[in-house]
Amino acid sequence: MANLWSDYYSPQSLSSALDLLTKNRDNVVIIAGGTDIVNELKNNPSHNGKTIVDISEISDLNYIKFNEDTNQISIGALITHNEVVKSNLIINRYFSLAKACWSVGSPQIRNRGTVVGNLQTASPANDTIPPLMAIDAIITLQSERGKRDVPIYQFYKGYRKTEVLPDELISEVSFILPKKDSKTNFIKVGLRNSQAISLVNAAAIIELEGNIIIKSKITFGSVAETVVHATEAEDFLIGKSLIKSTVREAVEFVGSSIQPISDIRGSGSYRSELARSCLLKLLNELIDGSEKKSFPSNPITLTRSRKSKNRKPIDETANHSKNSVIKTIINNQEFSFSNCFDKTLLQLIREDAGLTGTKIGCDEGECGSCTVIINGKAVYSCLIPAPCAHNSEIITIEGVSTKDNLHDIQTAFIEESAVQCGYCTPGFIMSTLALFEETTEPSIDDIKIAISGNLCRCTGYYSIIKAIDAAAKKMANKDNESVGSTNV
Ligand SMILES: Cc1cc2nc3c(=O)[nH]c(=O)nc-3n(C[C@H](O)[C@H](O)[C@H](O)COP(=O)(O)OP(=O)(O)OC[C@H]3O[C@@H](n4cnc5c(N)ncnc54)[C@H](O)[C@@H]3O)c2cc1C
Ligand code: FES
Ligand code: FES
Repeated sequence: MANLWSDYYSPQSLSSALDLLTKNRDNVVIIAGGTDIVNELKNNPSHNGKTIVDISEISDLNYIKFNEDTNQISIGALITHNEVVKSNLIINRYFSLAKACWSVGSPQIRNRGTVVGNLQTASPANDTIPPLMAIDAIITLQSERGKRDVPIYQFYKGYRKTEVLPDELISEVSFILPKKDSKTNFIKVGLRNSQAISLVNAAAIIELEGNIIIKSKITFGSVAETVVHATEAEDFLIGKSLIKSTVREAVEFVGSSIQPISDIRGSGSYRSELARSCLLKLLNELIDGSEKKSFPSNPITLTRSRKSKNRKPIDETANHSKNSVIKTIINNQEFSFSNCFDKTLLQLIREDAGLTGTKIGCDEGECGSCTVIINGKAVYSCLIPAPCAHNSEIITIEGVSTKDNLHDIQTAFIEESAVQCGYCTPGFIMSTLALFEETTEPSIDDIKIAISGNLCRCTGYYSIIKAIDAAAKKMANKDNESVGSTNV
């Protein structure tokens, strides 16, 4: 693999980031979570030699705020999909955005991928765009030249093209909440339940007076160059009752707003049909009040529930280069690395730390074999730049057992025959460890979510689920026994 970048900066403040963007505007790439851009940097040779501005250390961009006076929610550029999924404010006041974030990729992708990064990647299939388009979100761009607020309907300039200029970054996305008793929903159809790009996705906001629709917003993704409003269906609904016969009629108005393409995932005509059934389901769920049924009451995020130890802040605007040292803690041991600033974390772990238990599978965030825990979150190390290891705490599969004993999870995998070739196993164990750091009594559904970002090509999932369930029960029993003996 060619070197991924020529310079790598990790500014700590917005002003330093803007300064770097101005100075390097002809050759610069922003990284937030890296879930999209690291693959692009790997696969597109025209990106070689870029200067990276990694904004993930700018704590001022890490917020979800509510302004009561303006009834506005603002989401900072570092808020991840999993942080939205855990936000009661967003679940209670703009549910369709939480549901959209829940549908993105897998827990590992949701732990790193940001809502703002999703907006800027600008694929018409991206899941957070339909709910943010439906609510007329405002995207705030900042540069050393100043600040500008761009309404989302002006933000997209065509297929994967946005308003953002090379010296600008998006600092936040904000929106005025719909009236309290409005109904909102999101729906996505992919080829499988997780790690699936939307064949069609859609969002709706319905405002009612009694049962009469006084405002309707319906947006579709993956059916045109950009996310679009189904304007004729929106107009048709105004003044009608929200009942199933109205919805059946509204579906007939979808076609004129969309021009779906055919691609490897589905034909244009299939997508057209899907768009109609999506609208039917989207609105019928609102009528039945079942839109929250598929959204868990305590969503599993593979993030440690107790507070992380205080991490030392890195130097103001660390410049990672050939001569700089990446200092990190892996499996409770301190490491210093030089000459690996232009690699992925997976390469650093395997090639420089010599910890080859973390496996390289797809190398593009699909299979989960490279899963490690960084600062309490399960992530795909193949999508993380090596400089993110600086001042971080990492756990790999080598840190799971003690010198003399396997971890209960490992023993359960052996006892339940949850291992065949074993290539995927370290990734599954790491996801399970993160699950147990989050909850001590996972349900079977929790377990399924926890491993939804890990693929196994030979064992099959039943024995893996059984092993994780057995390990959870064994560990809970041990906890109960030790509590019991303390009491005695
Ligand atoms: C395996 C896999 C599965 C996925 N599944 C889904 C899915 O189901 N649904 C879905 O919608 N997406 C999916 N994605 C896409 C991805 O996870 C999201 O688009 C993610 O939200 C991007 O956020 P990020 O922080 O990782 O962005 P990055 O990868 O860091 O950046 C993405 C782009 O935005 C730019 N950027 C980031 N932040 C800013 C900023 N503040 N200002 C200006 N530019 C910025 C970067 O330069 C880059 O061009 C998937 C990706 C992978 C690899
Ligand atoms: S997800 Fe990283 S190697 Fe497959
Ligand atoms: S055990 Fe072989 S890929 Fe899972």
